[in-house]
Amino acid sequence: MKKLLSQSTLLLSCALAMQSCSNDMSQQDPVVNQDASKIWPSLNIKVKQDPAVEQRVETILSGMTLEQKVAQTIQPEIRDISVEDMRRYGFGSFLNGGGAFPNNNKHAKAEDWITLAEDMYQASIDDSLDGSTIPTMWGTDAVHGHNNVIGATLFPHNIGLGAAHNPALIKKIAQATAQEVLATGIDWVFAPTVAVVRDDRWGRTYEGYSEDPEIVRDYAAAIVEGLQGDVGVDFMDQQHVISTTKHFLGDGGTENGDDQGNNLASEQELFDIHAQGYVGGLSAGTQTVMASFNSWHGIKNHGNKYLLTDVLKNQMGFDGLVVGDWNGHGQIKGCTNENCPQAMNAGLDIYMVPTDAWKPLMNNLIAQVKSGVIAQSRLDDAVRRILRVKVRAGLFDKPSPAHRQLAGNNEIIGSQAHREIARQAVRESLVLLKNKQHLLPLDPTQHFLIAGDGADNIGKQSGGWSITWQGTGNVNADFPGGSSIYDGIKQQVEQAGGSTELSVSGEYRQKPDVAIVVFGEDPYAEGNGDVDNLEYQRGNKKDLALLRQLKADGIKVVSIFISGRPMWVNPELNASDAFIAAWLPGTEGGAIADVIFNAAEQKPNYDFVGKLSFSWPNTPTQHANRFDPEYAPLLPYGFGLTYQDDNLLGDDLNETVQTAEGAQLSPMKLFSLTVQAPWELRINANQQTKAMTSSVVELPELSVKTTDYHVQEDALHIMWHKEAAVSLASNFPEDLRPYQEKNASISFDLKLNQLPSSPITLSMQCENGCSKLLDLNTQLTNVQVNQWQQISIPLACFSDVNFARVYSPFKLSSGAKTDITLSNIRIVPSEKSAETTHCPQ
Ligand code: BGC
Ligand code: BGC
Repeated sequence: MKKLLSQSTLLLSCALAMQSCSNDMSQQDPVVNQDASKIWPSLNIKVKQDPAVEQRVETILSGMTLEQKVAQTIQPEIRDISVEDMRRYGFGSFLNGGGAFPNNNKHAKAEDWITLAEDMYQASIDDSLDGSTIPTMWGTDAVHGHNNVIGATLFPHNIGLGAAHNPALIKKIAQATAQEVLATGIDWVFAPTVAVVRDDRWGRTYEGYSEDPEIVRDYAAAIVEGLQGDVGVDFMDQQHVISTTKHFLGDGGTENGDDQGNNLASEQELFDIHAQGYVGGLSAGTQTVMASFNSWHGIKNHGNKYLLTDVLKNQMGFDGLVVGDWNGHGQIKGCTNENCPQAMNAGLDIYMVPTDAWKPLMNNLIAQVKSGVIAQSRLDDAVRRILRVKVRAGLFDKPSPAHRQLAGNNEIIGSQAHREIARQAVRESLVLLKNKQHLLPLDPTQHFLIAGDGADNIGKQSGGWSITWQGTGNVNADFPGGSSIYDGIKQQVEQAGGSTELSVSGEYRQKPDVAIVVFGEDPYAEGNGDVDNLEYQRGNKKDLALLRQLKADGIKVVSIFISGRPMWVNPELNASDAFIAAWLPGTEGGAIADVIFNAAEQKPNYDFVGKLSFSWPNTPTQHANRFDPEYAPLLPYGFGLTYQDDNLLGDDLNETVQTAEGAQLSPMKLFSLTVQAPWELRINANQQTKAMTSSVVELPELSVKTTDYHVQEDALHIMWHKEAAVSLASNFPEDLRPYQEKNASISFDLKLNQLPSSPITLSMQCENGCSKLLDLNTQLTNVQVNQWQQISIPLACFSDVNFARVYSPFKLSSGAKTDITLSNIRIVPSEKSAETTHCPQ
């Protein structure tokens, strides 16, 4: 059984053993004694220390109390504090997370954002309760435009911008983003992400520009200058915001592409590959750096003094502030969200603490400075850095948020000028992978079928971090002013005298000359997008079926593939005459039509200029990166056809799913952070079955809500009021025989929130109604309420199940007064024989 301590036990043990908590790190840290100057350069940073600024900072610092200083280091989230909390404590900064809006209103207007910004600002400078008049600052994830705001221009995600390889364009995007952010009264943007992504299974692959440091370095400088302005010209004027270069360091290089995982790069690789965005971003004067969730050789970066203090601050010369990531400090060994002097001691300046943990954390920090666990000089250094950034950003001199130049300017949000920049970015990000017999550019006077679930779907084409955190739960009306890919095609074609027919499933009334099929990944963010191999639609190739159907009808097919990463699509490539990697274009999907159709005189206005900044895989398990010793991707880094080029890909790419030779069978994840394809979370209640598509479902029979276990929203809180079931099921049968042969068990983490008064049964469902029910209560008798425990049941216990055709490997049923939290559901192979199997009855 996995050993798990409750938060309060951890808190207590850390408090009792404070000394050993803080010493723990250095004993474990394999790199802490290195000499940073051997590998890391001292950078020539454009923003120089100005004696007048430093003097002002010292004057403010010298008048501050301990409580006021600690409050500067606390960054709570708008869903967890009120304006009155701000007045009472005077936090140095606050944030809104992905999908967090003023008044919890998704459709909040610029005025609503401004009102909250103004209220928080005024409360922060109101000294009636906390005695401080230091302005607070608001940080937001404007990672592809001001993406939490309805009507904002959403630019292509970074992966598409990498393909465009145009730093001047990137700078314009950053400037436009800064303006839209300023219209809502926000001071600070948590971008750019400069991860160099080495394993595309990572759910944040699309937040990276490239697998190679070259583009990342150039872009980091361009974005930082676009957001903050040019030093000596318009740095931090009222058209600019503070930038954050993130996530420091090595987030794109974790083992198996695991989000928040462990990076095993050598120190030299850490610099050569992963740190190049910091060389660009820090030199250009980025004022803040965000610590990363990941570990380096097992040590969480939030607690790594060598990286945060010795390398980043002392050696590279960064004099701005280091902000933590979403309770990332709580993941340091020996820490909790509420208690973590280790992070500040390692060099963290601001704790991002977006839950109600902010209050105990703040009180603990005050006590820890008093008792000397945190040196006064370290706290002063942190506050000095925060104040330095605020003075440089002009926060003490600019008018309050509601009275700044762009405040409340609804016209700037999603303005035509910004959309034009986004359209250019969309056009330049497209990479043409296949173009048989020069099918593209298309003659717009013909008849077109537009098919696929991405054709008229602005949410899908925008990906994660679009209005909501995961980018799910949106409809086209949530993107006013934007255009779907279909919108653009329809406009171009009709203008030229041609015609279109839109049908997601591909039926047509009039046989088209050409079908344009838009398909690809559904939105996701962070760990929810982690996959264990790169096969597209594993186990459920419905888009391939559509392409083949059209082909069988003798129709030429253009595929437009929406994705946050390169994927193994050999079968889909074979079934397409032309194939475009469109990445995640954002709200201006209509611009794709600018490129694929001829304008006047049989000539297009635009050609394809995008080139792969990620190698395209040859097998589902290939993780090829430019300059690898045995580099053999399907299409290499830098690939991208233009209209002059001849097609290279035939229709005969290998379609067999090759996984590495002799590879071990890896655990099959069913619910790991979130539901894993091809499985769906379904609710069976009142004789009806429904897929759960949002993070909350409330029915008379039961309620299901996502909740936090190890990371954000990686667990399901299920409460039964009546007889009902929750299952993980697929539309197609899955072959689980390889797992059965390896004596696998189905395993999950479970917490009983109260003792159940109804039996809980687990069953599996296979074809033709075969199923097997097991009563779990025998397993649960020793379980304590409110304690997580891992339950494993051998597949062999499901004796009547036909493992070749399983529709649902996990169905949990119960009745009234059952209240559990569930996480991490997977099928885990074992090397042991099945003889000792104990099964529930
Ligand atoms: C992400 C950051 C983001 C922060 C605030 C975290 O989970 O890793 O990139 O800035 O949340 O939303
Ligand atoms: C929150 C988002 C936030 C994200 C950061 C989620 O739990 O709902 O607002 O941006 O965590 O990782």
